[in-house]
Amino acid sequence: MDATVLLALRDPAGVPFYPIVFQILYILTWALHAAFVLLSLGAMGLSLYGSAKGNQDKHWSILTPHLIQTGKISVSILIVLGVAPLLFTQVIYDPNWYVTNTLSGMWIFIFVYTMIVGYCMYYWYYYAHKAQRTGHSLIGFVSFGILVFAGILMHSFAVTSIMPHDWMNMYAPNGIVNTSGWTFNMDIIRLAFMVSLSIPVVGIFLQNYSRFLSTRKDFDASFISYSAKLGTNFAVVGLLISAVLFVLWMLQIKYLFHPVSIATIIGVLVLLAMAKTNRNSYYTTLVLVVVALLISTMRELIRFDIMSALGYSIYDYPMNLEIPSIVMFLSTFLIMGFVGVAYLLTMAWKVGKREGVFDGSKDVVVTKLGQATLYIMIAWMAIYFAWGIATLFKNIL
Ligand code: HEM
Repeated sequence: MDATVLLALRDPAGVPFYPIVFQILYILTWALHAAFVLLSLGAMGLSLYGSAKGNQDKHWSILTPHLIQTGKISVSILIVLGVAPLLFTQVIYDPNWYVTNTLSGMWIFIFVYTMIVGYCMYYWYYYAHKAQRTGHSLIGFVSFGILVFAGILMHSFAVTSIMPHDWMNMYAPNGIVNTSGWTFNMDIIRLAFMVSLSIPVVGIFLQNYSRFLSTRKDFDASFISYSAKLGTNFAVVGLLISAVLFVLWMLQIKYLFHPVSIATIIGVLVLLAMAKTNRNSYYTTLVLVVVALLISTMRELIRFDIMSALGYSIYDYPMNLEIPSIVMFLSTFLIMGFVGVAYLLTMAWKVGKREGVFDGSKDVVVTKLGQATLYIMIAWMAIYFAWGIATLFKNIL
């Protein structure tokens, strides 16, 4: 594969803004996607252990439904947050993304149904566990397996997209065109590293969970310390496993001594020390965010280097500045997104901190944020449609 083919596969319309901005947004949003992938897999996996234990254990009878709920919400967030890196990758690395979609068309198709079936089964697991129906653990296991399989498919797409040297061979092995769409590639160490991160992520989540609930009188002190200890064990063991897998992955691709790799290893060691002492898990979470961004940067660096070596640099992508779209996008993302998320998070925090029923209408901050979100959304809809209709008429009249 040479640069001529790759460059010919780019969008002739060019990119609407500076490519580096899309690259940064890709790194940022993939880290967010990964955070919820890992939390959902970790929480769901651990809930299976809890549901297999049944309701005899007094700690697990509280923890299990909370883990199931955490996993359930995380899956919906990971799906929403998966769309963002998908959009950014197809803006600057469209040759990679569309070649992969063509070579693995059947798997892409299967991926969509995998998500639908896996997530529906998760709801089944949730309701069956709530009603304590027999076989709820089995339903949970099947749903967990399906969602892990979705991750394996996502991994295959990511790996195929960074194998431009082999695309021709995958498309026409031995010179015979293969249009089956069944191309599937795996890098076991990379995948194992990514999935292993769900262990420390659920560990740090449990530390936060116990810290958050420690101010509530209706939760037993023994339960708080039990969940904190469980979290610490998971975080420490998980971080050790992930660190080993990360080093193996870096050795395999010869990036171990790259500054981003070294910074990631240092980040993991800091995390290990903070998770072990568990002085303040909220600070540990901040370091976890930095490490997630470093891992996301590493993924992007690998792809950037492979493509640059072939003469494809995203920084040379033809640019067709389109200020109105960018203004619309950034104001939606920053103003509506941040105010809306702040509203939901503030309410969730206050609901969780309070014993009994929380009435949002009596809380000044929640009410103000709720009203602001509503007004911004109304303004956004008016601007969006007015702008769209005006552009449409301008173009056709
Ligand atoms: C339970 C479901 C899912 C799991 C477990 C999962 C897991 C993963 C994993 C492990 C990766 C990294 C693969 C690698 O670098 O080797 C990844 C990448 C990614 N995922 Fe997901 N994912 C899920 C669903 C989704 C959905 C629904 C979307 C889109 C709506 C999505 C969008 C992406 C994108 C865009 C990437 C980056 C691909 C690239 O860089 O080439 N994922 N996902």
